[in-house]
Amino acid sequence: VEPPAGAGPLAGCTVTISAGGTREALDPVRFLGNRSSGKQGAALAAAALAAGAHVRFLAAHMDVQPPAGVELVRVESALELREAALQAAAGSDVVIMAAAVADFRPAEVSHTKIKKSDGEDAPVVRLVRNPDILHELVERRNADSGKQLIVGFAAETGDEHGNVLEHAAAKLKRKGCDLLVVNHVGVGRVFGQDENSVVILSGHGVEPQSASGSKSDVAAAVIDRIGDELSRVFP
Ligand code: CTP
Ligand code: CA
Repeated sequence: VEPPAGAGPLAGCTVTISAGGTREALDPVRFLGNRSSGKQGAALAAAALAAGAHVRFLAAHMDVQPPAGVELVRVESALELREAALQAAAGSDVVIMAAAVADFRPAEVSHTKIKKSDGEDAPVVRLVRNPDILHELVERRNADSGKQLIVGFAAETGDEHGNVLEHAAAKLKRKGCDLLVVNHVGVGRVFGQDENSVVILSGHGVEPQSASGSKSDVAAAVIDRIGDELSRVFP
């Protein structure tokens, strides 16, 4: 439910939110994709609207509909999302990168459908790195007035190099964003599920904060925290 115009903790704020998973074309009918459902991003948009924000919603592939009331931009690939994000971020008070952005895309995109020709070896798909949109947003923000709060999301598993929180703390530093919302993922966890459990890490020395429950509960906690962080970082 949207508050009356001018009410709510994010009243007067423009919030850009990316959501869903990018799709990287191989040919006109095939792509490389990921399992992001877009549910958490949609819940964030709903929570930001409920807090009184104007929401620019950058939707990559989603299994759910974006909430009504957002300024909607549909994108397909990481490169398209980059364009849309840089444009939407200009004039936004908050940018939340909840989209699952493909780290790599096929080096070549065939403009015609790739055919299997009998007797030939299976094709090898060469990949190239996609730009790091979040990092680029942070660099632009820092080069400009700096009055913008940038929030990243990270899905982490522990591995032989460290546990989930260690990886997340390193990522927060590397990305240079203000907040990093960390999901613990694993087989059967998080992707497409309705429940979520996250830790919110701050780049401004505030203690990590946990939030769990439905994706709407988590979204409300993240939006709440963004409101607090805004008043702390830009009093
Ligand atoms: N992200 C981005 N551009 C990319 C990749 C990721 O903007 N090319 C953003 C995501 O939207 C998310 C954050 O960066 O907000 C962290 O994404 P993640 O995949 O966890 O980070 P990576 O730097 O890609 O690290 P990893 O190698 O662990 O995948
Ligand atoms: Ca990644």
